[in-house]
Amino acid sequence: MDRIAELLWQRLRDPAVRLVLAASAAAALAVVCLVGWSAQPDRFSRGFAPAQPIPFSHRLHAGSLAIPCQHCHSGADRSRSAGVPSLEICMGCHKVTRIKSPPIRKLASLYESGGSLAWKRVHSLPGHVFFDHRPHVSAGIACQTCHGPVQDMAVLRQDMSLRMSHCLSCHRDPKAALPAGSAIARGPENCYACHR
Ligand code: HEC
Ligand code: HEC
Ligand code: HEC
Ligand code: HEC
Ligand code: HEC
Repeated sequence: MDRIAELLWQRLRDPAVRLVLAASAAAALAVVCLVGWSAQPDRFSRGFAPAQPIPFSHRLHAGSLAIPCQHCHSGADRSRSAGVPSLEICMGCHKVTRIKSPPIRKLASLYESGGSLAWKRVHSLPGHVFFDHRPHVSAGIACQTCHGPVQDMAVLRQDMSLRMSHCLSCHRDPKAALPAGSAIARGPENCYACHR
């Protein structure tokens, strides 16, 4: 045993052996990091679908009932944010519709007390990124092109990648996302457009 240890020790004093050992340790570490990086869930939360304070279904409202998206998200063509509807919009129907159901009762009592629902935010770009719904919606890009088949979602989930590469790949070639005959050829690619 001692003999083997001594032999190893002698080997380790050889600079070439130490170099090879250091290089293989670094390579092993790099492999571990790479595998970890690619195996982690999307760091921009694709598929994120938090439970909401009441079980509001897009499949019911935007699908079966076919209520237009902008009836509830009226900011989409008017401001940076599409916005989440106030209780006023819900009560437009729910003063008379399903008034006995527990979630609608909760809605009504919040409305009467002047409260609001704390909807959990689903999409969230990092603070250093500037996004504006207006140019996209006015260009005629459908909500679903970015957000996926919202009208089929019982629980709303993030269906789009919020990575820079996703924004840029459409900006370089937006034709498929635009209505036929659109005069727009490209979206901006300069850094300042999205990082201001
Ligand atoms: C009856 C009102 C209503 C209609 C119609 C509606 N929505 Fe919503 N939407 C909401 C409410 C309330 C929320 C917040 C709760 C939730 O996420 O489910 C929401 C959330 C969202 C979100 C996620 C917001 C976030 O936090 O990131 C997106 C995206 C969205 N809606 C897109 C759409 C699209 C696209 C349509 C049309 C196909 C649509 N909505 C139709 C009421 C509505
Ligand atoms: C070009 C892609 C794109 C299109 C088209 C688009 N959105 Fe969005 N939407 C986004 C991105 C990106 C975010 C996240 C913004 C952020 O975190 O600042 C977002 C966020 C939202 C949100 C939550 C935050 C907010 O802005 O209030 C809602 C609600 C929403 N979108 C609804 C809609 C609806 C409704 C339409 C169609 C009328 C639509 N979006 C069209 C990309 C898009
Ligand atoms: C244009 C009318 C309309 C608007 C606006 C509307 N709803 Fe509804 N909602 C309905 C109808 C109709 C039903 C019942 C469908 C059925 O027969 O099951 C319903 C059902 C529901 C249910 C299911 C109730 C149960 O008993 O399971 C919830 C929860 C709900 N709505 C929440 C909301 C919220 C929150 C808003 C506002 C963001 C909203 N609704 C806006 C028409 C509307
Ligand atoms: C599906 C295609 C598509 C996607 C995805 C998309 N964009 Fe765009 N974007 C466009 C087009 C097309 C324009 C140009 C509109 C015009 O020229 O009127 C544009 C314009 C813009 C502008 C310029 C606004 C202005 O006021 O000049 C910004 C900023 C922008 N996009 C940010 C983003 C960001 C950030 C993302 C990703 C989170 C993104 N876009 C994803 C198609 C897209
Ligand atoms: C069309 C919009 C858009 C344009 C143009 C754009 N970016 Fe980004 N950028 C994003 C978005 C969205 C993110 C956040 C998601 C991500 O990190 O991929 C981001 C993230 C970044 C980050 C942070 C990366 C990280 O890992 O946190 C850097 C650095 C960056 N961008 C630099 C640039 C530079 C430099 C340019 C110009 C050559 C540029 N961006 C142009 C949308 C854009």
